[in-house]
Amino acid sequence: MAEDLTIIGNTKEELYLNILPQIKALIGDEKDQVANLANVAAALKEAFNFFWVGFYLVKADELVLGPFQGPVACTRIKLGRGVCGQAWSKAETLLVPDVEEFPGHISCSSLSKSEIVVPLLKNGIVIGVLDVDSDKVNDFDEIDKSYLIQLCTWLSEHL
Ligand code: SME
Repeated sequence: MAEDLTIIGNTKEELYLNILPQIKALIGDEKDQVANLANVAAALKEAFNFFWVGFYLVKADELVLGPFQGPVACTRIKLGRGVCGQAWSKAETLLVPDVEEFPGHISCSSLSKSEIVVPLLKNGIVIGVLDVDSDKVNDFDEIDKSYLIQLCTWLSEHL
Protein backbone atom coordinates (compact mmCIF):
# COMPACT_ATOMS: atom_id res chain seq x y z
CA MET A 1 0.00 0.00 0.00
CA ALA A 2 1.34 3.44 -0.90
CA GLU A 3 1.81 5.77 2.04
CA ASP A 4 2.40 9.04 0.18
CA LEU A 5 1.39 12.32 1.76
CA THR A 6 -0.27 15.04 -0.27
CA ILE A 7 1.08 18.35 0.94
CA ILE A 8 -1.39 21.13 0.07
CA GLY A 9 -1.58 24.61 1.58
CA ASN A 10 -0.35 28.14 1.08
CA THR A 11 -0.32 29.10 4.72
CA LYS A 12 0.96 27.36 7.82
CA GLU A 13 -2.59 26.88 9.07
CA GLU A 14 -3.70 25.33 5.76
CA LEU A 15 -0.74 22.96 5.92
CA TYR A 16 -1.65 21.85 9.45
CA LEU A 17 -5.29 21.40 8.47
CA ASN A 18 -4.17 19.36 5.48
CA ILE A 19 -1.55 17.23 7.16
CA LEU A 20 -3.12 16.35 10.54
CA PRO A 21 -5.91 14.14 9.14
CA GLN A 22 -3.33 12.42 6.92
CA ILE A 23 -1.13 11.70 9.94
CA LYS A 24 -4.12 10.28 11.82
CA ALA A 25 -5.00 8.09 8.83
CA LEU A 26 -1.40 6.97 8.44
CA ILE A 27 -1.25 5.81 12.05
CA GLY A 28 -4.75 4.33 12.01
CA ASP A 29 -4.96 1.72 14.75
CA GLU A 30 -1.25 0.89 14.73
CA LYS A 31 0.00 0.81 18.33
CA ASP A 32 3.74 0.37 17.83
CA GLN A 33 5.32 3.39 19.48
CA VAL A 34 8.52 3.60 17.43
CA ALA A 35 6.65 3.17 14.14
CA ASN A 36 4.10 5.85 15.01
CA LEU A 37 6.60 8.40 16.33
CA ALA A 38 8.86 7.80 13.31
CA ASN A 39 6.01 8.45 10.88
CA VAL A 40 4.86 11.59 12.72
CA ALA A 41 8.39 13.02 12.67
CA ALA A 42 8.73 12.18 8.98
CA ALA A 43 5.33 13.65 8.08
CA LEU A 44 6.04 16.93 9.91
CA LYS A 45 9.46 17.19 8.28
CA GLU A 46 7.96 16.53 4.84
CA ALA A 47 5.10 19.02 5.27
CA PHE A 48 7.02 21.90 6.89
CA ASN A 49 10.67 21.12 6.20
CA PHE A 50 11.49 21.88 9.83
CA PHE A 51 15.22 21.93 10.60
CA TRP A 52 14.81 19.24 13.25
CA VAL A 53 11.70 17.42 14.41
CA GLY A 54 11.58 14.49 16.76
CA PHE A 55 10.73 12.93 20.06
CA TYR A 56 12.41 12.45 23.41
CA LEU A 57 10.92 9.74 25.62
CA VAL A 58 10.90 9.60 29.42
CA LYS A 59 13.04 6.67 30.59
CA ALA A 60 13.66 6.58 34.37
CA ASP A 61 14.97 10.03 35.33
CA GLU A 62 15.84 11.34 31.88
CA LEU A 63 14.57 12.00 28.40
CA VAL A 64 16.13 9.72 25.81
CA LEU A 65 16.25 10.51 22.10
CA GLY A 66 13.55 8.79 20.08
CA PRO A 67 12.55 8.82 16.41
CA PHE A 68 13.50 12.07 14.68
CA GLN A 69 14.28 13.71 11.35
CA GLY A 70 17.20 16.08 10.95
CA PRO A 71 20.80 16.30 12.08
CA VAL A 72 22.13 14.09 14.88
CA ALA A 73 21.08 15.29 18.33
CA CYS A 74 21.85 15.00 22.06
CA THR A 75 20.93 11.55 23.35
CA ARG A 76 19.93 12.19 26.98
CA ILE A 77 18.38 15.18 28.77
CA LYS A 78 17.82 15.40 32.52
CA LEU A 79 14.56 16.59 34.11
CA GLY A 80 14.50 20.40 34.14
CA ARG A 81 17.46 20.74 31.75
CA GLY A 82 17.09 22.67 28.50
CA VAL A 83 13.79 23.44 26.82
CA CYS A 84 12.84 19.76 26.64
CA GLY A 85 13.62 19.05 30.29
CA GLN A 86 11.66 22.12 31.39
CA ALA A 87 8.65 21.25 29.23
CA TRP A 88 8.78 17.84 30.93
CA SER A 89 9.07 19.17 34.49
CA LYS A 90 6.34 21.79 33.95
CA ALA A 91 4.20 19.46 31.81
CA GLU A 92 3.55 22.38 29.48
CA THR A 93 4.33 23.54 25.97
CA LEU A 94 7.29 25.90 25.68
CA LEU A 95 7.66 28.21 22.69
CA VAL A 96 11.14 29.71 22.45
CA PRO A 97 11.42 32.50 19.84
CA ASP A 98 15.18 32.84 20.28
CA VAL A 99 17.11 29.97 21.84
CA GLU A 100 19.94 32.30 22.86
CA GLU A 101 17.52 34.07 25.19
CA PHE A 102 16.46 30.84 26.91
CA PRO A 103 18.56 30.17 30.02
CA GLY A 104 19.94 26.63 29.92
CA HIS A 105 19.01 25.92 26.32
CA ILE A 106 20.82 22.79 25.14
CA SER A 107 22.42 23.49 21.80
CA CYS A 108 22.47 20.22 19.87
CA SER A 109 23.17 22.25 16.74
CA SER A 110 24.50 25.80 16.46
CA LEU A 111 22.13 26.22 13.51
CA SER A 112 19.03 25.87 15.68
CA LYS A 113 17.60 29.34 16.42
CA SER A 114 14.05 28.86 17.67
CA GLU A 115 12.18 25.94 19.12
CA ILE A 116 8.86 24.60 20.35
CA VAL A 117 8.51 21.66 22.73
CA VAL A 118 5.16 19.97 23.40
CA PRO A 119 4.76 17.32 26.12
CA LEU A 120 3.10 13.98 25.40
CA LEU A 121 0.77 13.34 28.31
CA LYS A 122 -0.76 10.00 29.18
CA ASN A 123 -3.17 9.94 32.15
CA GLY A 124 -1.71 13.28 33.23
CA ILE A 125 1.89 11.99 33.22
CA VAL A 126 4.51 13.22 30.75
CA ILE A 127 5.75 10.21 28.76
CA GLY A 128 7.84 12.19 26.29
CA VAL A 129 8.07 15.40 24.32
CA LEU A 130 7.83 16.51 20.72
CA ASP A 131 10.66 18.92 19.92
CA VAL A 132 10.66 21.04 16.78
CA ASP A 133 13.60 23.29 15.91
CA SER A 134 14.00 25.95 13.26
CA ASP A 135 17.14 27.50 11.82
CA LYS A 136 15.33 30.87 11.86
CA VAL A 137 14.70 33.06 14.89
CA ASN A 138 11.03 33.54 15.81
CA ASP A 139 9.77 30.84 13.45
CA PHE A 140 7.01 29.41 15.68
CA ASP A 141 3.79 31.05 16.80
CA GLU A 142 0.40 30.32 18.36
CA ILE A 143 -0.69 28.47 15.20
CA ASP A 144 2.14 25.95 15.59
CA LYS A 145 1.45 25.72 19.30
CA SER A 146 -2.25 25.07 18.87
CA TYR A 147 -1.93 22.42 16.12
CA LEU A 148 1.09 20.66 17.62
CA ILE A 149 -0.72 20.41 20.97
CA GLN A 150 -3.75 18.98 19.13
CA LEU A 151 -1.50 16.47 17.39
CA CYS A 152 0.31 15.44 20.59
CA THR A 153 -2.94 15.09 22.54
CA TRP A 154 -4.26 12.75 19.87
CA LEU A 155 -0.94 10.93 19.49
CA SER A 156 -0.54 10.25 23.23
CA GLU A 157 -3.79 8.30 23.14
CA HIS A 158 -2.45 6.19 20.28
CA LEU A 159 0.84 5.10 21.80
N1 SME B 1 17.42 22.27 22.33
C1 SME B 1 16.84 21.22 23.14
C2 SME B 1 17.65 19.96 23.04
C3 SME B 1 17.20 19.03 21.99
S1 SME B 1 17.67 19.47 20.45
O1 SME B 1 17.26 20.80 20.12
C4 SME B 1 17.21 18.39 19.31
C5 SME B 1 16.71 21.67 24.57
O2 SME B 1 17.19 22.73 24.96
O3 SME B 1 16.10 20.94 25.33
